[in-house]
Amino acid sequence: MLEKIKTTSDYLKKQTGLSPKIGIILGTGIGGLAKEIETEVTIPYTDIPGFPISTVEGHTGALIFGTINGIPVMALQGRFHFYEGYSMREVTFPIRVMKVFGIESLIVSNASGGLNPDYKVGDIMIITDHINMFGTNPLIGRNKDELGPRFPDMSEAYNKQIINRALEIAKKHHIKVKQGVYVGTTGPTFETPAEYNFFRTIGGDAVGMSTVPEVIVARHMNMTCFGISIITDSGAPGQITEVTHEEVQEVAASVEPMMTLIVKELLDAF
Ligand code: HPA
Repeated sequence: MLEKIKTTSDYLKKQTGLSPKIGIILGTGIGGLAKEIETEVTIPYTDIPGFPISTVEGHTGALIFGTINGIPVMALQGRFHFYEGYSMREVTFPIRVMKVFGIESLIVSNASGGLNPDYKVGDIMIITDHINMFGTNPLIGRNKDELGPRFPDMSEAYNKQIINRALEIAKKHHIKVKQGVYVGTTGPTFETPAEYNFFRTIGGDAVGMSTVPEVIVARHMNMTCFGISIITDSGAPGQITEVTHEEVQEVAASVEPMMTLIVKELLDAF
């Protein structure tokens, strides 16, 4: 596995003259940030040795090297979801590659369903913590001691200092943001009302189908993590309506400019 990660990282090193320290997963919500990148090179996932291929509508699947406000970044346009049939190892492979490449910090975005009754569709939630409800963990299996410890600490998975900086940036731009706990689950079904209720009861503010595996693997390798979510539908009692993938995409697109603004300015904080 480590050999494979190194092979991919070495391949990427040959494609760029940049040495970014920040990695970004342009999930639903900050896909538009791609437009803000002064692109040096775009590499389709299909060209990258060892990379799985993204299949979901709205996720293009390319790795971008470039700069934002002069700060070099490695951006993943499109992520690999567990529900697509990839193994946890495949889902998190790009994060392993990032670390070996030299990336120290990870920014992730996603779309999620609101569980907190105070949340409205279109709200932005800064992720303060998560609950892993995937029923599995990407670190299961023999530990690679070169990459991280057998029993990684998760007491501050989402860096508090970065969260505070993001809150300052949002305030400066009069963007209202929530802070909350993200529940990660496999999907691909959206939740039943009873499931939404359960996830709220166990301490969740929003629920989605990504991010948790990537952040676990990033923390395993001691990367600084920041996560931000768009509430695209409501799972709060009395507010549940039918959800479609199209609706999720639509709401996310409408909030995207604000998410992009926050993340763009946040790069300075790392
Ligand atoms: N549940 C799970 N994942 C989601 C949701 C949801 O309601 N909305 C967007 N992603």
